[in-house]
Formats: sequence, C-alpha cells, structure tokens
Amino acid sequence: EFGVRPHFFQTRWFYALCAAATLALAWGLYLLHVRRIRQQFALVLAERTRVAREVHDTLIQGVVGSTTLLDAVSGMFSTSPETARQYLDESRSQLRKSLDEARQAVWNMRRQTPGKGDLATALSGVVQRLTAGTHAEGRFKVRGTPRHLSTACEENLLRVGQEAITNAVNHAGPQLIEVELYYDPQFVQLSVEDDGHGFDLEAQNEMSDGNGHHFGLIGMRERAQKIGGQLIVHSAANEGTRVVARVPSS
Ligand SMILES: Nc1ncnc2c1ncn2[C@@H]1O[C@H](COP(=O)(O)OP(=O)(O)OP(=O)(O)O)[C@@H](O)[C@H]1O
Ligand SMILES: [Mg+2]
Repeated sequence: EFGVRPHFFQTRWFYALCAAATLALAWGLYLLHVRRIRQQFALVLAERTRVAREVHDTLIQGVVGSTTLLDAVSGMFSTSPETARQYLDESRSQLRKSLDEARQAVWNMRRQTPGKGDLATALSGVVQRLTAGTHAEGRFKVRGTPRHLSTACEENLLRVGQEAITNAVNHAGPQLIEVELYYDPQFVQLSVEDDGHGFDLEAQNEMSDGNGHHFGLIGMRERAQKIGGQLIVHSAANEGTRVVARVPSS
C-alpha cells in the first residue's frame, strides 16, 4: 500500500499558519487604527488647551483689568469725577484692546501664523496699560542688545509678561512691578518682579492641578515650554514674587 504525500500547501499546519498570519495581520491593522485615533485625540486635546489659553490671555485678562478699573471708578464718582472719567475711558480702551486681541487670536488659529511686532514696545505698552488706575508703579527696561526672535517666541513671551503683571496687580497688592527683557547672547529672558505679599507656590501648584480654576501659572509654564524655554517662579510670603521665562538661543 502506498500513499501520495500532499503538497505543503495542502497540509493542516499550512492552513493553521495561514489562519494565524491572517489573525496577526488583522490585529496589527487594529492596533494601527487605535494608534491613529489616539494621535488624533491628542491633537484635539492640545488644540483645546491652546484655545483655553488664548481665551484666558485675551478676553479673561482684559475683562479682569477693566473690572479693576470700574471698581475704582465706582468709589470716586462723587469725589473726583474727572479721574473717574479718565478711568472709564481707560477701561473702555482696555476692553476694546482685549476684543481686538481675541479677534487676532481667533484669526491666528485659523491661519496658524501670528502677526509680528516689536516685543519691547508691546511689553512696554502692556506694563503701562495694566498698571494704569492701580496703586502699583510699573517699570519696564530692556537689557543687552535686542535681536530678532521668532514670532512664536515674541508672542508667547508677551503673553507670559501679560499674565505675570496681571497676577501681580490682582493678587500681590504691590507698590512696584518691574519688568525686564534681557537679551543675553545665550538666551533671552523676561522677568516680572513685584514687591507684594507673595504666595505659597507649592500649595498653589497642588490647587491648580485639581480645581481647574486657575489657569495663569499653568498657561505661563506651557507657553515657556512651547518655545523651548522654562518658567521659574520664586515667591515667599511678604517677600514678593519673581516670575522668569528664559528661552535659550537656538
Ligand atoms: N504675583 C503674585 N503675588 C501674589 N499671589 C500670586 C501672584 N501670582 C499668583 N498668585 C497666586 O497664585 C494663584 C494662581 O494664579 P493663576 O494666575 O494661576 O490664577 P488666577 O490669577 O487666580 O486666575 P486666572 O486663571 O484668571 O489667571 C492666584 O490666585 C494667587 O493666589
Ligand atoms: Mg492669573
């Protein structure tokens, strides 16, 4: 008796191998699909964070600044109407500026390329605008030799400065807020220092993680990291606060 041995592709182990290969392929495709969905989700989350930051740094900050001015106005109508009128004008122009910035932010999100400007001039304007009508004196200076920075770097440093000054005005009760833009050959650094109450940074970090109501410090840190730099905050009760954003030269 004799038999004909089947070809290898007619054997059971070959069928089993084919089935295993098909399964492995299907599994691989599934994993690829999941990975692509994860990537898309991460992109959506990053975009959401960016939108939240832009809204905070334009509309919310502007409205907070105007509210501070309006609070001051309400107490001085009868005593000094002329100053009250001046503050009202200031508040109106702050609101208009925030609206313009929010429009600009929306526009930037659509076309992905923010407008370009002179950082020192913009910062000096921000210092002046945010300390007007408050008890704090704002000072701004540039150290080192100014040089060209990328639009993203200028934009993010400006927003960090804006938030740090807003925080000093709103939370510190300072007499002086000193803002410095320092061009070192190795890095560019923006610092905002106030002589107000200061705060417990660690306690604040814990709170900011959980309750979701304080976006300023988180936003400043994210902005500094986004342009390859870092944010350093020093603060202690009754010793004031110093916020430094340092970006190495590329
Ligand atoms: N320069 C400062 N001096 C004193 N306290 C400060 C200063 N900067 C921040 N803080 C404290 O840290 C907290 C968190 O600041 P953060 O900017 O993250 O949030 P916020 O200013 O309260 O709200 P927003 O989300 O509108 O910025 C403040 O509420 C305040 O208590
Ligand atoms: Mg803040």
